[in-house]
Amino acid sequence: MIRRFDFGSPINTGAVVRALQAENGPVPHFATEVKEGRVTFTISLDRDDIIFGLGESVRGMNKRGHLYRAWNSDDFSHTENKASIYASHNLLLFFGPRKLFGVYFDDPGAVEFDLGYTRGDTAAITSENGDVSVYVIEGESLTAICREFRGLIGRSYLPPKWAFGYIQSRWGYESDPELRQVVKEHRDRHIPLDGVCMDIDYMDDYKDFTWDEKKFPDLKKFNQDMRADHIRLIPIIDAGVKQLKGYDTCDEGLEKGYFVKKADGKPFVGAVWPGRSYFPDFLREDVRQWFGDQYGRLMDQGVEGFWNDMNEPALFYSEESIAEAFAVADQLRNENLDINSAFALKDAFNGTANSMADYRRFYHEVNGKTIRHDKVHNLYGAFMTRAADEGFRRYDASKRFLMFSRASFIGAHRYGGVWQGDNNSWWAHIKLNLQMLPSLNMCGFLYTGADLGGFGCNTTEDLLLRWLQLGVFTPLMRNHSAKGTREQEAYRFANWEDMRDILSVRYALVPYLYSEFMKAALTDGMYFRPLAFDYPADDTACRVEDQVMLGGDCMIAPVYEQNARGRHVYLPEDMLMVRFRSAQDYDLTPMEAGHYWIEMALDEMPLFIRRGHVIPLAKPAEYVEGVDSSSLKLLGWLDKSVTITLYDDDGYTTAPDLEKGSTAITVTVVGEAASAAGEGLTLNTEDLIIGE
Ligand code: NOJ
Repeated sequence: MIRRFDFGSPINTGAVVRALQAENGPVPHFATEVKEGRVTFTISLDRDDIIFGLGESVRGMNKRGHLYRAWNSDDFSHTENKASIYASHNLLLFFGPRKLFGVYFDDPGAVEFDLGYTRGDTAAITSENGDVSVYVIEGESLTAICREFRGLIGRSYLPPKWAFGYIQSRWGYESDPELRQVVKEHRDRHIPLDGVCMDIDYMDDYKDFTWDEKKFPDLKKFNQDMRADHIRLIPIIDAGVKQLKGYDTCDEGLEKGYFVKKADGKPFVGAVWPGRSYFPDFLREDVRQWFGDQYGRLMDQGVEGFWNDMNEPALFYSEESIAEAFAVADQLRNENLDINSAFALKDAFNGTANSMADYRRFYHEVNGKTIRHDKVHNLYGAFMTRAADEGFRRYDASKRFLMFSRASFIGAHRYGGVWQGDNNSWWAHIKLNLQMLPSLNMCGFLYTGADLGGFGCNTTEDLLLRWLQLGVFTPLMRNHSAKGTREQEAYRFANWEDMRDILSVRYALVPYLYSEFMKAALTDGMYFRPLAFDYPADDTACRVEDQVMLGGDCMIAPVYEQNARGRHVYLPEDMLMVRFRSAQDYDLTPMEAGHYWIEMALDEMPLFIRRGHVIPLAKPAEYVEGVDSSSLKLLGWLDKSVTITLYDDDGYTTAPDLEKGSTAITVTVVGEAASAAGEGLTLNTEDLIIGE
């Protein structure tokens, strides 16, 4: 059951798709205080209460004990002290001996989440603008509450099946020959690959929807050649449009008044990669339509996927903020810079980026009303993603395109996936990557993953290998790194064969992972879950922070510490451990519930299958189109016969049908023998463990 309560004049964010009448009266579970334009919702916390939620944010799955702030921020250092990164996903789930409910704060402005930070026994959530719709979601379990919430916000985005393949990316890939070489290095070594990302350097002078014709003399032909090799090109699109007379996107946007404006009606100018830029007012439908149609220029060349970046929006400076900084510099030019003035000078320039003053300088038009940006800041990236997705549908309604964005808000989960932004090549970020996955799923973002190997800083081969071992399970599996860092394509390292072997596991699992993803998406379920969702009565399981449930049958527990030869794992029930070295080289260990130290050499990775469950494994392939889903090996530990269903489709359809796409596989166990049958499938049961 969901109840809605409104405060102030809430703005329609588009997050919610189900119409619900707002009720009067107190918000259940919370004490409410309206003061000085802000509204605060307070709840006391029992010692054992856990708080899940907040999608993409730092720290653990249990968010209790920190101060978070919904404020989409271009921040490339995801350290523990951060209150905000790129997304605002204002969902909380309270779970404890006397609590079980969810609450969603539908507010596009800044919202502070003090979750036991100021006082350990109190959570206080404050809408800074005081205009918010609060949805309280009751249900009999965490899973039921999430399903109910997902019904409220609408079905998750469906990527094409090829997007479950491995994607290689790097900021700095410049040209057609360079990208061809990257692909060749993979193909020559049989390292699987399905896509290469084109970062900003493909553009002509960082102009959206253009490409540098010297570096890409025939983009269409390049794309065709890549497609013949089962590779997709995935170009980046930035939010800011370069200010340049004669650049058609800029000229048209100016002429039609499509860019956000200042109070004086002039377009706001902020700087990103190309220097001075304009920012489309994505909150307007006509602007979304215009911008969304621009993607067609690249789709005309055969492109089937994009990533949207810098859409918090990130601002290096504005005309005003840089002028102010130079004024400070001029004033201090001949001074002996001391403790105060030296820092004042630095702060003047550092403060020009993503400044609150700038976010208050421009306005959006929302349904005929003018709204200052800071009141709706967290919607900007979400509406850019929406513009893209709507553009794709207009371009070709018959198929699914790949889209993943950096900034997001709940609602954007219907239009695209997200990547987890600019992480670093730090071991701690493997764990952070893992912890964000279920939280993002709660908020509807199922298609997600992090920059494998780490974006900033120099990676090491062991770090990349361990990160790939987690990436095997994340729907978006992309190796991405920043310009200037150590090259981190798998083939750059002496142990590339180990990386190839780990990638073979991903491709062997594609039929299963795709099936579980689609089932989750089509039933408002979760692909990744904290253990608490499945074992709510097991307090140890509820507090596990480095293992997550995957699909209906598995648990994952990656190794995320350097030089570790294994890790501690808690099994809440009997499970079969598969220790993979490659898709064809693995061993199976039935394990009873309990605590274990498991040995995992650097080239090995575990997967745990619940006792009584079965998962399929295909033969290794080098691209998703080459995965043979009709010939499968079954892995599992069974005492009795079971039937599983495996979903599949053509990988493109926009009208997937769960029933029609599902094939039943029946595994019959008689004594110590197992046999399996499924229509149109060749099934191998030699790896099923029976009894014990
Ligand atoms: C910031 C993005 O987060 C990163 O992934 C990208 O490589 C750079 N922008 C350059 O486009």
